[in-house]
Amino acid sequence: MTDPIPADLRARAAELRRLLEYHNYRYYVLDNPEIPDAEYDRLFRELQALEQQHPELVEPDSPTQRVGGAPLKAFGEVRHAIPMLSIRTETDTTEAGAVAFDARVRRELGLGPGVPPVEYSAELKFDGLAINLRYESGVLVRAATRGNGEVGEDVTQNVRTVGSIPLRLHGVTPPVLEIRGEIYMRRDDFERLNARQRAAGDKPFVNPRNAAAGSIRQLDPNIAARRPLSFFAYGLGEVQGWEVPATHSGVLDALEAIRVPVCEDRAVTRGAEGLVAFHRQIAEKRDALPFDIDGVVYKVNSLALQAQLGFLTREPRWAVAHKYPAQEEMTKLLDIFVNVGRTGKLTPVARLEPVFVGGVTVTNATLHNMDEVERKGVLIGDTVVVRRAGDVIPEVVSVVLDRRPSDARPFAMPEHCPVCGSEVVRIEGEADHRCTGGLICGAQRKRAIQHFASRGAMDIEGLGEKLVDQLVDCGLVKDVADLYCLAVPQLAALERMGEKSAENLVRALEASRSTTLARFLYALGIPEVGEATAATLAAHFGSLEALTAAAEEYAAALEQEEDEAPAARAKRLKGLALQQVPDVGPEVAAQISRFFAEPHNEQVIARLRDPAIGGVHWEDVEVTPAAEQPLAGQTVVLTGTLSSLARDEAKARLQALGAKVTGSVSRKTDFVVVGEDAGSKLTKAQELGIRIVDEAELLKILGG
Ligand code: IVH
Repeated sequence: MTDPIPADLRARAAELRRLLEYHNYRYYVLDNPEIPDAEYDRLFRELQALEQQHPELVEPDSPTQRVGGAPLKAFGEVRHAIPMLSIRTETDTTEAGAVAFDARVRRELGLGPGVPPVEYSAELKFDGLAINLRYESGVLVRAATRGNGEVGEDVTQNVRTVGSIPLRLHGVTPPVLEIRGEIYMRRDDFERLNARQRAAGDKPFVNPRNAAAGSIRQLDPNIAARRPLSFFAYGLGEVQGWEVPATHSGVLDALEAIRVPVCEDRAVTRGAEGLVAFHRQIAEKRDALPFDIDGVVYKVNSLALQAQLGFLTREPRWAVAHKYPAQEEMTKLLDIFVNVGRTGKLTPVARLEPVFVGGVTVTNATLHNMDEVERKGVLIGDTVVVRRAGDVIPEVVSVVLDRRPSDARPFAMPEHCPVCGSEVVRIEGEADHRCTGGLICGAQRKRAIQHFASRGAMDIEGLGEKLVDQLVDCGLVKDVADLYCLAVPQLAALERMGEKSAENLVRALEASRSTTLARFLYALGIPEVGEATAATLAAHFGSLEALTAAAEEYAAALEQEEDEAPAARAKRLKGLALQQVPDVGPEVAAQISRFFAEPHNEQVIARLRDPAIGGVHWEDVEVTPAAEQPLAGQTVVLTGTLSSLARDEAKARLQALGAKVTGSVSRKTDFVVVGEDAGSKLTKAQELGIRIVDEAELLKILGG
């Protein structure tokens, strides 16, 4: 006799069983699934369909023949007094799904067209872990997971740590009352838990459901106790000596009355129309809910009608889960590119094979930063799980390892900005890589130009976001210096730009040329330098030259002695002029020095100040009133060892008095401070006839 089943179908069924078994294990036993639920469901349905067409393919160990995974051996087993069932899922995520369910119920109840609509209890489908709570004489005696529906795990110890689950029912003591519901984790609790996990160097959870399931199935109840879990009841198990209301909604109300948490987003509605309305209402609300749901559940409200409808193997005929588009899907990661943000931050972004997730087609998903890429172990070519929940930017959650192709390759952060070619740096202790291109970087350019023109900066009236975009896009403006080269005819030729507004803009540009150092510094858009810091820098240094000199000095100091102890390094940097400015700490100083060290920035500044190009100018300011700054404008050189104060300190105090402290003696030097063992600088000063100051005199000067 020949085999009636083609060999390829037999092989596919075996492959599907193997895959489902594996993913089942990852999901139920390890609490660490590799593929999204939607993909699991597709595989499951494919096997179900194959087995339906060819019943000979069904094996007793097929994943279609059981409900869930094997209980973890470490927990005790609990046989459920009444099996814990699952609900049929309506796969049609459109409103037609609700209509189909109502039609099925009516047909199965034998209701003709004239019979009034069926009453339903509509509620949310929580995305967590099903739990059976057994109360005896009003006291919680056992909590069990669903397990395979017949036998679950005894997780009483862990469940007792869930704050919202009553250990004793309020006002009632029936011999037996089993309450069924879902243990879940709120999204905010999940974010906090993951932040904690990361800070402790532990692996973050993939989503709130896995966090909830993983916490309840945590063998150490002390750890479980620290996990922020919540609970909602949605039904009953065994009941003895408690009067069960006649409707499901009545049951929920009664549970609420004995202080069992029941979600308030529930409704009693009628007919297909009522179900559709609920589905729609919750869809609109879904993103704003504080927890994840993957759909809604409709239940025939009358318990008598429920009994009449009965069950189909392991699913009741009176309930259905009506899902929303999945928030997690699987797709191929085609490439990783880098996005340059307005501050120069480089974000690795995954380019994906388009995938429908969370209600939209997603082609890009963020990978946040290099640490995340490494932690997730994402390679280019991998199949990844993408999540888009709510309005959140889609992100790559994890890798499906068993789909990794042999030619998958790692991603590396570029060393140069992909937009402008400037050096990319990663600041010590920061997760982010940054482009140092500043003003010249195309990605940062539009934002930078807009900032340059803004009110607190150069205050160029009429140069708003749209016009900046237009000017950059058509190539008229590449950097802020180009603004000053714009002529009326060029501007007037632009779309939505008349002769009049072109003239006004040129006039505004003209007027902005005369400015202050503070405005100019703020306009440059140096990271970390806002209006206040710009003003302080201007007051402290008085001139751009003084500031750039301090920035150069700082940049040089940053490069010195890489392996020096952090404390020594910090101390050395602290003594430099840039960090003498009030409120300028090491981060701000590093940003400033990096900005001025970038040749592109230097060029743009030079062009801005060039009378033939930008013509931007200002009056240099007296650093501080002469009375308080006796050394303003004086150039000082320190040489030899001072006995009463460190060289850095002497330098800082001289600078605070307005002196410019330089490293070499020249005709411009006003005086040289000479300590012990002074060498060639003393000789040079003597040769040039420059005033020599000893330590005692220095202290007098510093003392005021
Ligand atoms: S009723 C006889 N109601 O969905 C029906 N289940 O496949 C028993 N779930 O793991 C379940 N929200 O934990 C019901 N409002 C809700 C639910 C809900 C989530 C879960 C349940 C089970 C699965 C059913």
